[in-house]
Amino acid sequence: MPEIVTITTVVNETPTVKTFVFDKLFAFRPGQFCMVWIPGVDEIPMAFSAANSITVMKVGDATEALFSLKAGDKLGIRGPFGNGFSPSGKVLAIGGGIGVTPLFTLAASGEVDTFILEAITREELVFADDLAKVSDINIATDDGTFGFHGFVTGSLDQIDVVSYDTICGCGPETMMQGICDRLVANGIENRGQCSMHRDMQCAVGVCGSCCIDDHGLRVCKDGPVFTGDLIKTGEFAHYHRGPSGRKE
Ligand code: FES
Repeated sequence: MPEIVTITTVVNETPTVKTFVFDKLFAFRPGQFCMVWIPGVDEIPMAFSAANSITVMKVGDATEALFSLKAGDKLGIRGPFGNGFSPSGKVLAIGGGIGVTPLFTLAASGEVDTFILEAITREELVFADDLAKVSDINIATDDGTFGFHGFVTGSLDQIDVVSYDTICGCGPETMMQGICDRLVANGIENRGQCSMHRDMQCAVGVCGSCCIDDHGLRVCKDGPVFTGDLIKTGEFAHYHRGPSGRKE
């Protein structure tokens, strides 16, 4: 059963991203996720952005409903679930869009040396100022309005990726595929740790809705963080299954 929490603060991070702070603390490891129940609407997986908050991009019906909530409104939280990141040695984190959230918690815990942050444009950069306080940050914007003009993969090509012991990524799968391609080219895909997102129902490894082809791994239980050598084959970056199980 979800734990019912009360929203205490809503922070407008960007035009499409909000942080919802609530009145209870959850002990989680960076990269673990929770199931957020929006009463009367849906229950969806979300990364924690702190022990008492989630940071959300408006991308569909459930998040649109979430965006209408304000301080004093209720949410249900189940979790934390999943494995989270396992950083060791010198750590590079690469976050695109709202995928920055689980990596932000990793950086906030002092475990990231270098951070590559990507957004489509300057005003959509999330947590950039806070990340600059805890890591060496490289920023890329798709439209060139701030930092490197282009995708994170272009920014990644400018640094010595082999010098890092752990490379953590979260964002669109095409972005993570680009990261994995570079790790494979250098023979270090086993150093990659990518966080995946899939449709989830139970979140505890029972229903099978989050299984990935052709490994049969459950994103909620075996992931959501997988090493690059595991996800360089299979459905990763090619397709996913929607709520009905149909390929999308
Ligand atoms: S959501 Fe049910 S097995 Fe993963």
